[in-house]
Amino acid sequence: MSRADASALDPQSFTDQVLRALKSPGSDELFPVDVLSILPGSQRDFDLFYRKADGKTVLFCGRDYDFTERTQLRIFNMGLEELYIPAEQAEAFFRYQEEHLSEIIADESIQPTRRARVLQSTGYFLMRDVMAEPRAKALIGRAGRFVSSTVQFVLKEPTAVSHLMSLTSKDYYTYTHSVNVSILGVALLRRVRRCQHNACRVFGMGALLHDIGKCRIDPEILTKPGKLTDQEFAVIKTHPVIGYELLAAGGELPEEALSIVRWHHERFGGGGYPDGLSGSAIPEAAAITCACDVYDALTTNRSYRKAMTGVEAMELMTGPMADHFSPEILRTFLAMIRSNHPKLQKPAEPELVAADA
Ligand SMILES: [Fe+2]
Ligand SMILES: [Fe+2]
Repeated sequence: MSRADASALDPQSFTDQVLRALKSPGSDELFPVDVLSILPGSQRDFDLFYRKADGKTVLFCGRDYDFTERTQLRIFNMGLEELYIPAEQAEAFFRYQEEHLSEIIADESIQPTRRARVLQSTGYFLMRDVMAEPRAKALIGRAGRFVSSTVQFVLKEPTAVSHLMSLTSKDYYTYTHSVNVSILGVALLRRVRRCQHNACRVFGMGALLHDIGKCRIDPEILTKPGKLTDQEFAVIKTHPVIGYELLAAGGELPEEALSIVRWHHERFGGGGYPDGLSGSAIPEAAAITCACDVYDALTTNRSYRKAMTGVEAMELMTGPMADHFSPEILRTFLAMIRSNHPKLQKPAEPELVAADA
């Protein structure tokens, strides 16, 4: 078995290794998991390896052996922060992590950055399943539990957004994009109106599922490297209504969450889609999601262009794209990004901008 190449301590490489493992379940790669996401005494269906000083990985605790508090202590004494799991067991691991997510997120003895890593990789795994089978009631239940953990984290941990932003994969996948928009959206909603857990949860569900209609769009159009033809763009523009109808038919999501799915591409100044709403006719939840959606899409690599820096995205959003957003929401959003983005807390200097790319 080959060992993972990059250090798991680098949050960016950690996320990318997890994403790679989920995309290539048949490979013989090992991928890193945080030691603290393995709970002593819990049932699990995957093997745990550790990496020795010489770089070789060896079996540490097979799936048939109990992972006890003593086992955990041994790992701590060895100074290890992560263990490794074969990519072929990724499904079992992420199902396990999702089941235990609320316990991990609520555990304040775990550093926020490590809880953020767990949250994001679980979200990716969940969204992959939801997009594959969006009508399944069980999946909406799973999404609801995931969003509850997200809200709990954002509400209780002041540094949650900045930790989650540092993890964001630069590569755009609808799954990670959905998770990012939901996290940013919940944090922005809290700045716009001081709502409590339940209202944040309803909002977070809409934001997480905002692009669910893309599951019915031809992947070749979604990932086309060049410019879209008018006809292809017309197909893309159907995703808000497809998503709205899919979820409305299930009857499980409140109207506010559905409004996000339908109207996140409307523009404050008009000219958006699908209904051409403008100004205050656009529900606030959809307008909040719109700002987060655009920022996340601009700052990740797409099939047709490279990721912009945070500074470049903000310049575009306050310049040529300004009429897309409610001025008040845009102001609040930019203040949130500036205060949470590790590289935007000082006035931008040329080298700072380059480092952000
Ligand atoms: Fe969308
Ligand atoms: Fe989106």
